[in-house]
Amino acid sequence: MKYSANYSQLVMPQDTNIIGTLFGGKMISWMDIAAAKVAHRCLKDVTADTIVTRAMESIEFQEAVQMGEWVNLKSNVIAVGKTSFKIKVEAYAERIGEEKRLACSGIFIMVSVCKNEDGSFKSVEHGISLK
Ligand SMILES: CC(C)(COP(=O)(O)OP(=O)(O)OC[C@H]1O[C@@H](n2cnc3c(N)ncnc32)[C@H](O)[C@@H]1OP(=O)(O)O)[C@@H](O)C(=O)NCCC(=O)NCCS
Repeated sequence: MKYSANYSQLVMPQDTNIIGTLFGGKMISWMDIAAAKVAHRCLKDVTADTIVTRAMESIEFQEAVQMGEWVNLKSNVIAVGKTSFKIKVEAYAERIGEEKRLACSGIFIMVSVCKNEDGSFKSVEHGISLK
């Protein structure tokens, strides 16, 4: 089965850095949420409580994003392990009357977990296959 999700955000003044474009840390947090969205979708019919972010790889900022632009995030599960999901996230900037452009991309490793009584997490097998 193929798993994908979409998620959008409008760049507001509080999302910008000191040069007036979208702050990179804000972009990464939106990408993390986009990765979580598709991972949550995978957890249907699975015993895990939730997923957590274990690693981020290959984050690239291809283009700056301006205030007032939309950021459309697409997340796709590209591989699965026993407890992990490898998720590709692409963020496309959109401005009225212009072509969408790839602004940022990265790979997120999310792990399916159950919560321990002390509030910590333990990884659990998710049993998901992409076939
Ligand atoms: C998630 C957590 C419970 C997993 O602990 P663990 O049982 O020791 O398991 P590991 O981290 O060794 O491995 C879990 C999976 O992640 C994979 N993994 C771990 N580090 C990785 C990395 N750097 N890159 C790619 N994959 C990685 C492992 O290969 C394993 O995958 P598999 O089961 O599919 O083979 C623990 O690391 C944790 O609580 N981390 C903090 C999470 C967090 O707070 N995130 C931020 C908020 S969401």
